[in-house]
Amino acid sequence: MAAAAMPHRLHFLAGAGPAFSRFSKPHLRPSSARMSLREDGPSLAVVGVTGAVGQEFLSVLSDRSFPYRSIKLLASKRSAGKHLTFEDKDYVVEELTPDSFRGVEVALFSAGGSISKQFGPIAVDCGSVVVDNSSAFRMDEGVPLVIPEVNPEAMAHIKLGSGKGALIANPNCSTIICLMAATPLHRRAKVLRMVVSTYQAASGAGAAAMEELEQQTREVLEGKEPTCKIFKQQYAFNLFSHNAPIMSNGYNEEEMKLVKETRKIWNEINVKVTATCIRVPVMRAHAESVNLQFEKPLDEETAKDILSNAPGVVVIDDRAANHFPTPLEVSNKDDVAVGRIRRDVSQDGNYGLDIFVCGDQIRKGAALNAVQIAEMLL
Ligand SMILES: NC(=O)c1ccc[n+]([C@@H]2O[C@H](COP(=O)([O-])OP(=O)(O)OC[C@H]3O[C@@H](n4cnc5c(N)ncnc54)[C@H](OP(=O)(O)O)[C@@H]3O)[C@@H](O)[C@H]2O)c1
Repeated sequence: MAAAAMPHRLHFLAGAGPAFSRFSKPHLRPSSARMSLREDGPSLAVVGVTGAVGQEFLSVLSDRSFPYRSIKLLASKRSAGKHLTFEDKDYVVEELTPDSFRGVEVALFSAGGSISKQFGPIAVDCGSVVVDNSSAFRMDEGVPLVIPEVNPEAMAHIKLGSGKGALIANPNCSTIICLMAATPLHRRAKVLRMVVSTYQAASGAGAAAMEELEQQTREVLEGKEPTCKIFKQQYAFNLFSHNAPIMSNGYNEEEMKLVKETRKIWNEINVKVTATCIRVPVMRAHAESVNLQFEKPLDEETAKDILSNAPGVVVIDDRAANHFPTPLEVSNKDDVAVGRIRRDVSQDGNYGLDIFVCGDQIRKGAALNAVQIAEMLL
């Protein structure tokens, strides 16, 4: 992404959606920036700092007053030399090289799978604990795949300060959003089968995709031919099957991530999961329709109660006002919102539920989840 496009991109990343006062659970930290530069904090590196997730890393670190002794901002050669302000200090973006990780204790990666594959092991050899946002290591045996509210125990053996490097993988954004809502119900009634249909935002494909959606929207409204660089087809005023590569079984890779990652995170090899992933012309935050089949009965009211008390989840389920979660309402928010909580009439008794989930996938689906993982190392 060209450095010249940055101010425009940052405008998008910061400005999506109206304020929403319902998101005020006590477990969330205050959103005002506090200086967290202190000697007893770990040395950090943010890889891919100029991207959609990288920028969000900085804002989440600051929002949560994550302590750090030093921070290195890393990106490609294209961005090297660019100045970024973080917590009132000026930093120069450095080019990512094999030498970047000397003395780095925690490295937050969001520069794509090939960069993670190349530089993740180098960082680990330097003694860094890498929290990786790409899919490069998610299914590797021995690499914990962690949602802190769901399976913190998976990374219990990884300690900071031991001098030993390690890899921890952040799950796919759609998986995180889905499992934030489905796990509390799974714990009560055991999910046997889950059918997920996603409505995924442009931001999931990075900053350049957000810019393309904005540009196309303007072009279509002006009666011009839309520019298609990131996606092969018109995105504005349209929707299409997720752009991830199609596999030999007919699923795309995004869909199979939901299938495989759920099994690994829940440690339930037999849970049946199927998914259909769709890109919709929404700027930021994913929505998902989730149908659940349980082993034990679970009624609507109990499910609502469980979800209302689940950490990182907020229930928006006002049938009278026909008000349920929307991507705009969850944009820039930490919590995942759940609504449309209803008995699945296609299943006998209380053995099935339908829910609708929305979550900011740059935040809880990526940067926030990774920073929460890093917090568990402190
Ligand atoms: N967007 C999401 O919602 C989301 C959610 C979960 C996971 N992820 C994952 O997070 C990663 C980044 O996604 P994104 O949406 O933030 O993408 P993005 O906006 O396109 O940003 C990509 C970042 O990677 C950097 N980069 C590219 N090539 C590089 C190189 N050779 N060396 C060093 N840095 C390089 C870019 O730096 P330059 O600016 O210098 O090019 C930029 O900082 C991907 O693996 C993605 O799958 C994204």
